[in-house]
Amino acid sequence: MSRFAGRVALVTGAGRGIGAATAAELAKGGCALALNDVDEARLEESAAALRGHGVNVTTHLGSVMDPAFIQAFVAEASEAHGKVDLLANNAGGGPPMTPWAEFAKSDFAHFRAIFEMNFFTQAMLLHALLPGMVQRGYGKVVCVSSISAVLGQESGAAYASGKLALHALVSSVSKEVARHGVNVNAVVLGNPPHPSRTPERQAYLDKLSHFDRVGRLDEFGKAIAFLLSDDASYISGAAVPIDGGLIAPRLNE
Ligand SMILES: NC(=O)c1ccc[n+]([C@@H]2O[C@H](COP(=O)([O-])OP(=O)(O)OC[C@H]3O[C@@H](n4cnc5c(N)ncnc54)[C@H](O)[C@@H]3O)[C@@H](O)[C@H]2O)c1
Repeated sequence: MSRFAGRVALVTGAGRGIGAATAAELAKGGCALALNDVDEARLEESAAALRGHGVNVTTHLGSVMDPAFIQAFVAEASEAHGKVDLLANNAGGGPPMTPWAEFAKSDFAHFRAIFEMNFFTQAMLLHALLPGMVQRGYGKVVCVSSISAVLGQESGAAYASGKLALHALVSSVSKEVARHGVNVNAVVLGNPPHPSRTPERQAYLDKLSHFDRVGRLDEFGKAIAFLLSDDASYISGAAVPIDGGLIAPRLNE
């Protein structure tokens, strides 16, 4: 299947996890890729695997926290591939959970950095890429959020706040660009696997899902790739849950 033939996607945090899984689905569909990560070994390993699908893959090492890097990344990717059609605005996350009492004792820089990682990084990429998409009359953007944004999360106030701000960004900007052929959505992820998770935490999260398991990375990648495809041409401004139903708790055991 070559549903992304002729398309170029920019994927942040593509060295592993959700970013790598999304890039894999795009590559299977024939999409050319401009991959970013802050970890060089992960980035090159991911790119080598994706080139196995016969697509053109460029790598762009740097942090999305750095506004100068974002400008350089978008310029290099556009130069190398001729354009950028699709954006998987994926890089995010943060340091271990921080209870509010800890934030209260420290200066505000820590809170600000986590918020920035989960909001301004993605907003900066929209800032850099949307004008070209609008000008060409084609674009698809997915911003990766979390169920923490809508449920709240103890010891995760900065992370959850940054992610929820993304929803407002997406629902606002999408209204301005839809008539120019550009779709902008958020995905609200519920508990993808993560290497940092302890078995106890994993077992707890498995039970929260209606499927009695966390989602597989490919299940998240496929759903994000769908939103980046023309099959999702009439979906925009949405915050689409990919969460195994977790957001609606089971009322009975
Ligand atoms: N895994 C989860 O439990 C979970 C839940 C909800 C939402 N999410 C969201 O999914 C997205 C991806 O998370 P993941 O689970 O794949 O994480 P991950 O840790 O498995 O992968 C993140 C990748 O991003 C890279 N990265 C980190 N900082 C970066 C930076 N400043 N610039 C560029 N790349 C950077 C890392 O090197 C890594 O390769 C994040 O936005 C995260 O908030 C994850």
